[in-house]
Amino acid sequence: METSRPPFEKYLFVCEHAREEGDFCGAPGVAVRETLKQAVKDAGLAGRVRVSRSGCLDVCAKGPNVLLYPDGVLYSHVTPSDIPTIVAALVHQLNGERS
Ligand code: FES
Repeated sequence: METSRPPFEKYLFVCEHAREEGDFCGAPGVAVRETLKQAVKDAGLAGRVRVSRSGCLDVCAKGPNVLLYPDGVLYSHVTPSDIPTIVAALVHQLNGERS
């Protein structure tokens, strides 16, 4: 085993977990991830922010859920219309850290 720094500055883990019944993120989570991935790319952050699908984050009733690492921010009840707000916050934060 070896340890190292993650290659991206930020990670957005998007739950896509689906189950037969009860609350889950599932298809709406897939839509959020796809929209988020394109928005991150369009914002020029593809080399700095990684959008990854995840399994259940154990907050199923609040889905779709997006977890921002390493910030420790959980976005819940996310819809594609929320993506510009999430990405704008990342752009602001990352550009601020560079200057
Ligand atoms: S199914 Fe998404 S948090 Fe559990």
